[in-house]
Amino acid sequence: MCGIVGYIGYRPAQAVLLNSLQRLEYRGYDSCGLALLDHAIESHRSVGRVEDLKHVLTPSPATAGIGHTRWATHGGVTEANAHPHMDCKNNIAVVHNGIIENFQALKSQLLAEGHKFRSETDTEVIAHLIEKHFDGDLERAVGFALAEIQGSYAMAVLCIGCRKLIAARKESPLVVGVGDRENFIASDVAAVLDYTDRAIYLEDGDICTLSEREISISNCGKGVSRKTCPVTWTADQVQKGGYEHFMLKEIHEGPKAIADTMSDRLSLVEPSVILEVEKLRAARGVILTACGSSYHAALLGEYLLARLCRVSARAVISSEFDEVEPVLDKDLIIAITQSGETADVLRALRKAKSAECGTLAIVNVVGSTATRICDNTMFVQAGPEVSVAATKTFMAQMISMYLLALSNSVLDPRTMATLLESMKLLPAKVNEVLLGESQIAAQAARLAKFDDAFFVARGINYPIAMEGALKLKEVSYIHAEAYAAGELKHGSFALLGPRMPVVVLAPPDETYTNIQTSIKEIKARGAPVLAVVDKSDTELEGFADDLIRVPSVHPLLYPVLNTVALQLLAYYAARARGCPIDRPANLAKSVTVA
Ligand code: AGP
Repeated sequence: MCGIVGYIGYRPAQAVLLNSLQRLEYRGYDSCGLALLDHAIESHRSVGRVEDLKHVLTPSPATAGIGHTRWATHGGVTEANAHPHMDCKNNIAVVHNGIIENFQALKSQLLAEGHKFRSETDTEVIAHLIEKHFDGDLERAVGFALAEIQGSYAMAVLCIGCRKLIAARKESPLVVGVGDRENFIASDVAAVLDYTDRAIYLEDGDICTLSEREISISNCGKGVSRKTCPVTWTADQVQKGGYEHFMLKEIHEGPKAIADTMSDRLSLVEPSVILEVEKLRAARGVILTACGSSYHAALLGEYLLARLCRVSARAVISSEFDEVEPVLDKDLIIAITQSGETADVLRALRKAKSAECGTLAIVNVVGSTATRICDNTMFVQAGPEVSVAATKTFMAQMISMYLLALSNSVLDPRTMATLLESMKLLPAKVNEVLLGESQIAAQAARLAKFDDAFFVARGINYPIAMEGALKLKEVSYIHAEAYAAGELKHGSFALLGPRMPVVVLAPPDETYTNIQTSIKEIKARGAPVLAVVDKSDTELEGFADDLIRVPSVHPLLYPVLNTVALQLLAYYAARARGCPIDRPANLAKSVTVA
């Protein structure tokens, strides 16, 4: 979490940094700040969002600077704890994303040496360490400071009298945006899309010095060269494009994300999938690991690999990865992560690598850390996702799970062909769900009046019920829990009643009869039921209080359509409650702390 940016060039740095910081607000929005380098360093900080920071700024001619948007870890949400942090003499400014694990020991030592601290953050020790080592050579001082630090960092440093930016990374993402007579650094390439379409993805241990015309990188004291890569994402993709919220725009981009992720992979010639097929067959065990929504995609994957491939796979929450039985070198570990930067996922992957397991990352962000740790990467083609709540990337992750399972399936050719044909229709079917948006909005407005909700499903749709509950909690702050329908009666029935609406996924698959029974049992306890059913369903009309109808599709593909319905339900419930939809309280999109 936290986003950092830096600029050196010919444009007024303040405007560039503010614009880039706004693109990174999904990484944290507790406070923000920037430091501008001219003859002196001018620093401005504010609790709240970049929009709030703008109010405390005055125009500046500076053409170099650094900026930060914070998700608080060490120290409360105060202006004093907002970045940039300075050394004692206000000569050196630092912005940082990561955690300095030995900061208490370093701080005690620096205090004993006479340094004056003004914040409770771990970051401030970096500014004082650089000050301690600075003898006129900023790169050297940064190198010495980093040698004393334990932990993770992406950081940028400015110093009075040095017309350059120094940036460094270890276990936190950092990208260099390569321009003409100007250069940028940022936590994520989305921050610099307005200015350049070329990027260098820094590696762990890299220290990078940027001036307007030069970029030099060293690692372990030696000069290294890193590839400049073209960036395929565009600035348009990170604009709201007429929608009130990014979440709604991104739900509407679902059909394209699905189509792009399938693209020619449906012919099953996608090289990384084929490669994984061999590994899947050779693997002793398959573990899918992920967090949050991505974990729900992993659960879908677990189901599909068992059902279509007869491969016994397990989905493990990444933060629990250490607690499962030891992984062995013959295991295949599949990490699903939109950002490719989630600390718990990376930790699981590093453990898998050290056990010499095969590793595959299913990722949306090019150049992200997961892609560099894993043997192979399968990119989902969702494009940049800005809203903290994952929507189109979750759809694309589900499609990747289907592709992975299909490419290794034991289905007979006819069944396989039917399923593939049905998959091709998914973008159009999702569009049909989107056409029912206004009706779902009205149903969501009714749901928004409650404080709690249950989401219930069976089989392949159970992970989707979990995702529906997470989405509703995340954006509308309605407390929601998901249950396998048969499990409700083992305790949670106690909570059923008129104030506990139950959203039931009731597709016409082999679970349908049992789900009908569950609905009757729920209704008998007085709870209102909103059922998500096939458009031709006639049986549930009499039982459920309200229905969301989705188009008919292959029974195994209802999870995709149900997901879109539940995303819309969460979005419109949040809207009815007046919630800050794209920036929910206490959350950040990319959780880079363990
Ligand atoms: C979903 O809406 C959340 N933003 C969150 O659960 C997210 O899926 C999780 O933090 C994992 O992120 P990743 O896919 O980038 O690893």
